[in-house]
Amino acid sequence: MGSINIGVLASGRGSNLEAILQSCEEGRIDGKVSVVISDVEDAYALERARKHGVPAVYIPPGKFKTKLEPEIEAQYVRVLTEHGVDLVCLAGFMRILGSCLIGEFRGRILNIHPALLPAFPGLEAQRQAWEYGAKVAGCTVHFVDEGVDTGPIIIQRAVPVLDDDDWHTLADRILEQEHKAYSEAIQLFAQGRLVVEGRRVRILPC
Ligand code: GRF
Repeated sequence: MGSINIGVLASGRGSNLEAILQSCEEGRIDGKVSVVISDVEDAYALERARKHGVPAVYIPPGKFKTKLEPEIEAQYVRVLTEHGVDLVCLAGFMRILGSCLIGEFRGRILNIHPALLPAFPGLEAQRQAWEYGAKVAGCTVHFVDEGVDTGPIIIQRAVPVLDDDDWHTLADRILEQEHKAYSEAIQLFAQGRLVVEGRRVRILPC
């Protein structure tokens, strides 16, 4: 596919965004981050984008708590399209996408989730895994569909749960793996090596 334009949606501190920016700058991803959008005006992710010279756009969230109104989704689509985005990456974006965004970018939206899906979807997945007593936790990069953390899985990385972990120390070790896994998955997309067959994602050889 060659060099791709990536649009990142983030609501918070943006450490995954930072990892993606660095991977682009250091050549581990054939592409660049063209725009970062947030639903939170003072999200540190926007600051990180500016520090890297990437356009940072705040779109007010509207009246819903977890979803986006269609008119607001249309604003996301407009900004992403204006920046020529090929791939949308959710990186700690705390809202559920609706049919407008998903329809416009179908098969071209990725998410990172801090658990081994389908276990522990939703919020505070690391805490869910720790409280459940799982011995192996981890992270998942997947395509986004209409459900919550349900799309076809691209990459998973396992992280052992240690006896002396609390859920924060576990989350920190998972985060290290997230940063690596997300860039790998984006590069596979950029190389055109991801083939979705129903729920399964086949990774073509180089
Ligand atoms: C990460 O744990 C990610 O898996 C989840 O939200 C968190 C975002 O962290 N979806 P950051 O903003 O990328 O640091």
